[in-house]
Amino acid sequence: MDRITTLDEFIIDKQMDFKHATGELSGLLRDIGVAAKIVNREVNRAGLVNILGLDGATNTTGDDVQKLDMFANDKLVEYLKNSGECCAIGSEELEGFIPLPTKSGKLAKYVVVVDPLDGSSNIDVNVSVGTIFGIYRRVSDPEGDVELADFLQSGTELVAAGYVLYGTSTILMYTTGNGVNGFTLDPSLGEFCLSHPDIKMPKSGDFYSVNQGYYLQFDLDMRRFIDHCSDSKRKLRYIGSMVSDVHRTMFTGGIFMYPNTRKNPQGKLRIVYECNPMAMVVEQAGGKAINTNLDRILEQEVKELHQKSPIILGSCDNVEELISFVKKYR
Ligand code: AHG
Repeated sequence: MDRITTLDEFIIDKQMDFKHATGELSGLLRDIGVAAKIVNREVNRAGLVNILGLDGATNTTGDDVQKLDMFANDKLVEYLKNSGECCAIGSEELEGFIPLPTKSGKLAKYVVVVDPLDGSSNIDVNVSVGTIFGIYRRVSDPEGDVELADFLQSGTELVAAGYVLYGTSTILMYTTGNGVNGFTLDPSLGEFCLSHPDIKMPKSGDFYSVNQGYYLQFDLDMRRFIDHCSDSKRKLRYIGSMVSDVHRTMFTGGIFMYPNTRKNPQGKLRIVYECNPMAMVVEQAGGKAINTNLDRILEQEVKELHQKSPIILGSCDNVEELISFVKKYR
């Protein structure tokens, strides 16, 4: 059997490719990996929480039973705070970003954005959920306070991005802009081990993924494209958990869409901590990610931390096909 490469070994190995690397980004990625293992443990026992806790309000140690997305948020904040490599965090669960002063007083140069538990409405029914993360280099004065501008950078400025899928197995996928690698958690070792090196998405695929229940709320071009997918006997798959739907699309090929609807004219998914990190991963695996105006997701202007965007991503050929439909019907 080939020797196992753990996430930590892989990160350190990759760091050596960069002559001037200081190890800060590597440290940050490793801390995200540790936080993911803790979130994974809680997600796995989610169904037991009410059994282990007292009437659902407190757990065996007497603490309040937290909603899992808040738990995941708090764990990520805790680990990033201790890591000392991150000066602030922006999260779906937090209204504003929170600065993380380091114990040593050292000024960290990265900010991290996270959706701690994407698809959390699926937890109660045992469906896969995920964590999404992105890392930006701070752009504000390093001697001053962290600013909102540090979080409102376009996706092209991401230094690293990735996600963790808590599925039938737990897998962490990340990119630092040089391809995408996947690491499966080996529960017996308690380590993420390299299982999917240098992932390349199929150039086209037979699957389309969209909440077809909103069909009548979509724009005409989007409806025509969905009709075309259905007419050409493509397979519809929709879990309702972006990480799971995108992860499947990464391997089977095809297209994932969360377009604007009448109810959500800007779509539902958030640019900073959902669309941009997932778009970076998809592009790094050879796919494409655009919005319904056909602009590249990663180049969109970001004005607010919780700004939403319609998103379409997937295999190159499928996204190109959608683009030609939109051009024809708009
Ligand atoms: P939440 O974290 O509130 O469960 O939202 C999940 C997100 C995303 O993961 C998924 O693609 C989308 O919402 C599903 O939304 P619809 O139910 O509207 O299809």
